[in-house]
Amino acid sequence: MNPTQSQATLKLTRRMRRLRRTDAMRALVRETRLSPDMFMLPLFVCEGRGVRREVSSMPGVFNLSVDETVKEVEGARSEGIRSVLLFGLPDHKDGVGSASYDPNAPVQSAVRAIKSAVPDVLVATDVCLCEYTDHGHCGVIIDNEVSNDPTVEQLVRAAVSHAAAGADVVAPSDMMDGRVGAIRQALDERGFENTAVMAYAAKYWSAFYGPFREAADSAPKFGDRASYQMDPANGDEALREVAQDIEEGADIVMVKPALPYLDVLTRVKMEFGYPTAAYQVSGEYSMLKAAARNGWLDEKRAMLECLTAIRRAGADIIITYYAREAARAIA
Ligand code: PBG
Repeated sequence: MNPTQSQATLKLTRRMRRLRRTDAMRALVRETRLSPDMFMLPLFVCEGRGVRREVSSMPGVFNLSVDETVKEVEGARSEGIRSVLLFGLPDHKDGVGSASYDPNAPVQSAVRAIKSAVPDVLVATDVCLCEYTDHGHCGVIIDNEVSNDPTVEQLVRAAVSHAAAGADVVAPSDMMDGRVGAIRQALDERGFENTAVMAYAAKYWSAFYGPFREAADSAPKFGDRASYQMDPANGDEALREVAQDIEEGADIVMVKPALPYLDVLTRVKMEFGYPTAAYQVSGEYSMLKAAARNGWLDEKRAMLECLTAIRRAGADIIITYYAREAARAIA
């Protein structure tokens, strides 16, 4: 069969490849775009001055003292990043995570420092106890269990203290029941009615948090988090979690991790139409970094492909350690 013959017999009404021929054509019909202002950059704030310590399992991610955090935020701002999410690494830990509401702890100090140096950057703070407890669980332990209601009281204290330091958004990541409503009420009672709540609403019990626990020194010393984080097998339950957090006053809802839960992300966005965040977690980042370092994949393309997929699935906000690299890549 010669080529002319085959052309004559093939009668296509629609040739999909027409729209893929040139870069300009592909750009014209592109459905999903990324922009730096949808990225939120997580930062790990530690004690001290001049500290910039790389996390070995997360190349390009650092434990930063407050002064270095401000420099990092300034650098990110110059690349178009307009929001950050702060985690704290206190020197002092105890059974009930009391450093989480110390007004002079790393997170509170960093909020004030960022707000005075780069006031137009939105500052969100992670509200959880696992970085603050000596046992590494996200709550207060009573009778060998993470006890819900006493934990919520501690989380409320932490959230109020972040708001008092000037945080724009508080983001409870503990997965206790009722914490969004309790935090919302306490904020309102104290005049912080403009502080938004971003709820880690559908947060799964994921193996992909591994590198984070090194970054935040927050691995549980016994047991695991399966009694409070969600079973990875469940999708309907995620919708119930999100519904409940919205009912309790969440302004933004989150699905976490991102890539293994794109179906959940789409369902949450379609069902509620709320501002929806997806957290590309430490393990998602470290996998790409490790493969790239071995020369096994093209990091820039793989990074943008993952972030685009998360966006395409329905995320309005992407929390990612790649925020700065991605902003540079799409500039
Ligand atoms: C705190 C918290 C965790 C993460 C965000 N907030 C760890 C955990 O739940 O074990 C994970 C973030 C990441 O892996 O990048 N509870």
